[in-house]
Amino acid sequence: MNRTTPSAKTAGGDFAGLAAAADPRLFTPGPLTTSRSVKQAMLRDVGSWDKEFAAVVVRVRESLLAVAGVSRRQGYEAVLMQGSGTFAVEALVASTIPPHGRLLVIANGAYGERTAKIAAVQRVAVTVLRCAENQIPSVDEVDRLLSEDRSISHVAIVHCETTSGILNPIDEIGPVVRRHGRVFCVDAMSTFGAVPIDFAACGIDYLVSSANKCIEGVPGLAYVICRRDPLLASEGWARSLSLDLLDQWRYMERTGLFRFTPPTHVVLAFAQALEELEREGGLAARAARYQANHRRLLGGMREMGFREYVRPDLQGYIITSFLCPEDSHFEFVEFYSRLHDKGYIIYSGKLSDAACFRIGNIGRIFESDIEALLAAIARTLREMGVRLPPGVA
Ligand SMILES: Cc1ncc(COP(=O)(O)O)c(C=O)c1O
Repeated sequence: MNRTTPSAKTAGGDFAGLAAAADPRLFTPGPLTTSRSVKQAMLRDVGSWDKEFAAVVVRVRESLLAVAGVSRRQGYEAVLMQGSGTFAVEALVASTIPPHGRLLVIANGAYGERTAKIAAVQRVAVTVLRCAENQIPSVDEVDRLLSEDRSISHVAIVHCETTSGILNPIDEIGPVVRRHGRVFCVDAMSTFGAVPIDFAACGIDYLVSSANKCIEGVPGLAYVICRRDPLLASEGWARSLSLDLLDQWRYMERTGLFRFTPPTHVVLAFAQALEELEREGGLAARAARYQANHRRLLGGMREMGFREYVRPDLQGYIITSFLCPEDSHFEFVEFYSRLHDKGYIIYSGKLSDAACFRIGNIGRIFESDIEALLAAIARTLREMGVRLPPGVA
C-alpha cells in the first residue's frame, strides 16, 4: 500500500466495497453513478493549504479549459466554486452583473425559472422571456427584446433544460446576443463534458456546470468557465462575499487555492473523473456512449408503449421525460418504489403541464445497464397490472 492510495480495508471493514456492491444504478440527472476509482480517490485527507492540493486545483482548472476547447491564451478562465451547481449560477448572477444592469432570462423550465428567482433574490433587475416547456425559444423574439430594451446587459439560458430534457439552441441565440453587444451566460449544468459546445461560435462569455453531471464526479463542487474580460470588468459589483466570482478567481490565481474551506475530497474525486473522461476518449467518446444509451432507452421504452414529452428533434441525449401511461394501474410512486427495490433509481417529473417521469442516461452507465433497466421496467409494469403491447418480452 502506498501513502497516497490507502486501501479501503480499515478497522471498520471493506466499507467502500460494501457500499459499491449495495449501490443501486442511478438513472437520474445527478448525483450519478460514478466509477469505483472516482469514489476511491476520496479516501484521502489532504490539507487545504498544502501544495499537493494546490497542484490538483491547478490541474483541474486546466483540464476544464481543455474539455471546453478553450485556453487562457485565448482569454478564458476556469473558476471553481464550493457547493452545488446552483451556487455557481448564483455567483454568476450575484457578482458579474453591474448595479444598473438587467438580466434577460430565457426560460422553458424549472432551471431557467430558478435563475430568474436568484436574480430577484439578489435584487438584480430581471426580465423573463418564457416559452412552453416542450418548445425552444424564438431567436427572433430574443433579437426583438434586445433591440427594444437597452437596459438588458446580460442574457442567460439553460443549455439542456433538465426539467424536460429539451436542448436549447445556444448556437443560434448566442450570436444574436453578441451582435447586440450583451454578455451571454449559459447554464450547461447537464451538458458540459458530453455535448459539444463551441464557445467562440456560440459567443459564450460565462458557462456554468458542476462536478456531478457529465464529468461523472461527486457532488459538492461547481465551476464557471468564462472570458477573462467580462470577469475583470465586474470589479466592485458583487452582492455577496462567498459568491464573488472575481474575488474567487483572483485568490485562486494568486495562491492556487480556494478562498474558504474547499471540498478537498470532492476536488480529488473530480480530478480523477477528469482523467477518466480523457482516458475514455474525451468529450466525443462520452457523447457517443451517452447517445448509444439514449437510443437504446428510447427504443425500449417506445416498445413498451411509452411516449416522450419533448419532440424528437428538440430532445437532447442526457435525460428524457416520459409521459405517464393513462392505464389506471399505473401510479408513479409505486412504479418508482418497485424499481428502487430492484436496484434502479429513476427520477420524478418536474413539468408544470404534464404528468411525466424522467430517466437519465448519463453517469457511469452503459447500454447493458439500460438493457437491465428496461427489463426491470417491463417486469414492474407486469407486477402492477399495467397492460403492455403484445410481443414485449
Ligand atoms: C440545468 C440545471 N441547472 C441548474 C441545476 C441546479 O444544480 P444543483 O442541483 O447542483 O444545484 C441543475 C440540476 O440538475 C440543472 O440540471
